[in-house]
Amino acid sequence: MATLRDVIRQKPWLGWVLFTCTVVIVFLLGLLASSIVERKSEALIAYTPQVEHGQYEPRNEVWGENFPRQYQSYKKTKDSSFKSKYNGNAMIDMQEVDPRLIVLWAGYGFGKDYKQGRGHAYAVEDVRNTLRTGAPVNGAVSPMPNTCWTCKSPDVPRLMNEAGIAEFYKGTWETKGHEIVNAIGCGDCHDAKTMNLKITRPALTEAFERMGKDINDASHQEMRSLVCAQCHVEYYFNKKMVEGVPYLTFPWDKGLSVEAMEEYYDEMEFSDWTHAVSKAPMLKAQHTGYEVYLTGIHASRGVSCADCHMPYMSEGGQKFTDHHVQSPLNNVANSCQVCHREETEQLIQDVYSHQDRIIENRDKLEELIVRAHVEAKFAWDLEATEEQMKDILMDIRHAQWRWDYAASSHGGSFHSPVETGRVISSGITIAQEGRLKLARLFAELGHNEELPYPDISTKAKAQEFIGLPAEKLQEEKKLFLEEVVPEWLEKAREREEGYEVKTVNQY
Ligand code: HEC
Ligand code: HEC
Ligand code: HEC
Ligand code: HEC
Repeated sequence: MATLRDVIRQKPWLGWVLFTCTVVIVFLLGLLASSIVERKSEALIAYTPQVEHGQYEPRNEVWGENFPRQYQSYKKTKDSSFKSKYNGNAMIDMQEVDPRLIVLWAGYGFGKDYKQGRGHAYAVEDVRNTLRTGAPVNGAVSPMPNTCWTCKSPDVPRLMNEAGIAEFYKGTWETKGHEIVNAIGCGDCHDAKTMNLKITRPALTEAFERMGKDINDASHQEMRSLVCAQCHVEYYFNKKMVEGVPYLTFPWDKGLSVEAMEEYYDEMEFSDWTHAVSKAPMLKAQHTGYEVYLTGIHASRGVSCADCHMPYMSEGGQKFTDHHVQSPLNNVANSCQVCHREETEQLIQDVYSHQDRIIENRDKLEELIVRAHVEAKFAWDLEATEEQMKDILMDIRHAQWRWDYAASSHGGSFHSPVETGRVISSGITIAQEGRLKLARLFAELGHNEELPYPDISTKAKAQEFIGLPAEKLQEEKKLFLEEVVPEWLEKAREREEGYEVKTVNQY
């Protein structure tokens, strides 16, 4: 066999070809190595801390000095220009869209005001603005406790660390207004030293403990949903845990399904309020986002909240997490098409068709529950007894709990359409059973005609129906925002000036 040397001796040009190839390959490898070094030093510049701050630094802009890309994208949660068919980041007055809500929540804060959420950067502003927190001005107090601040701000872990958890929840809402001024941010989800994901809200850790689980055992992928489950969950204020404190508690001890939580609440005879029209002992579902998500196909395939709501993006050769948490329909390319091959339009239509079908039945259930409240009131007017009403009121409670569990789970009709549909249809069955009992009771009480459905076709008409002094509440709120909030901000500014932040790197 001829050796390479023999071949080259016969065909000298082949030697030159081999030589040139070697030179080119070495050159390319050199280029690659230098580009890797460059990227590495770029990364080093981007992630070399500019400032040093503690875990309880509440100001997003301070954390943002070290992580400008994440901070810049976080700031986009201020954008409110995107609207999808039912959601998006514009603020939607749900009482205008659906005046039935005013009757369903009569006698409760949500009957006064309910707007669909917008970006995280608005969290503090919006809780001040809502009529639900009242107008604590001129010595008046808020109807809400400090517990209501819990899901709004990185000032919350700061205060819990300073004063203790129960001490944080204690007292009415306005007493901590000057303390809580920074909207949801870095300190809510991250460890300051390592930037690893971190659970900062004790209610979630405690719920895990009561279920016999340790949240520290959660996998990295689970953490990408659990940081959201600190806030996007069902909760209630437990007044029996610590004397005089509305202690934030997740009702998960028996499980996270609609039935398990209902049983939990029934067993402890808990109710959020007594309905102003029917007098039923009601439950208010808060935002069962995480619970419903868990029952869906994406959760069972291991897709996390962050995969869709905080996808990776790339800028200047750097891959990072998009902190513009929003409707994924505003960013289908990064949110969905990393896994799905379908066209953008098709994927959006898939979401809408789930939502349309769920909402069709949800609206029917709402109408049935409105009827049941009105009929129950009529039965009381006919002097029905507590004994006669007991089961009926429980049916109303259970039907509305199911409706709210489905409706308040923002995104639920996409996150888990089958479960959401099931919960709504079981609500329809229960509402109808209650109304059958009501019809029988009416017959007993000598009434034999169907009650007319109230005219609640507009927000104003529905407010009038339940006797809500909407204008007065608005005026008081305006005064509070003009007089009290600027004082809160001034106090906060003075306090924050004293925080220690060390500049560690100056160029
Ligand atoms: C500290 C509590 C908290 C945490 C943690 C949290 N959220 Fe939120 N989220 C809120 C609140 C409060 C709002 C409503 C803000 C408003 O309307 O002012 C909201 C709003 C949203 C919205 C609506 C945005 C829009 O533009 O309409 C989405 C989507 C969302 N959150 C997803 C998530 C995801 C995903 C996570 C986890 C990666 C998460 N949230 C973590 C409290 C939280
Ligand atoms: C609602 C929770 C949440 C908030 C608020 C939040 N982050 Fe993150 N952050 C995440 C998640 C989820 C990831 C992805 C982590 C992973 O998979 O390891 C992440 C990743 C990061 C990373 C790692 C690099 C990357 O881009 O993946 C940095 C740095 C970071 N965030 C900085 C910040 C800063 C700065 C802020 C405040 C402006 C902030 N984060 C606010 C949830 C949050
Ligand atoms: C990390 C990967 C991943 C991402 C991101 C993702 N999906 Fe999926 N999706 C899946 C998997 C896996 C399934 C289950 C299909 C299967 O196992 O055959 C699925 C199923 C679906 C289905 C059919 C089931 C149903 O509920 O109707 C739809 C529709 C869908 N995805 C839409 C979307 C949309 C819209 C987005 C973006 C907002 C998205 N997906 C983001 C992986 C993903
Ligand atoms: C497979 C992708 C996917 C996953 C996983 C996912 N979501 Fe969503 N989410 C969506 C889509 C799509 C919508 C509907 C957006 C719309 O209608 O504009 C949505 C809607 C929402 C909304 C209402 C948004 C608005 O604009 O008002 C919230 C809040 C939300 N999701 C939170 C979560 C939380 C918390 C988790 C994890 C527990 C999660 N999502 C997991 C895709 C996802």
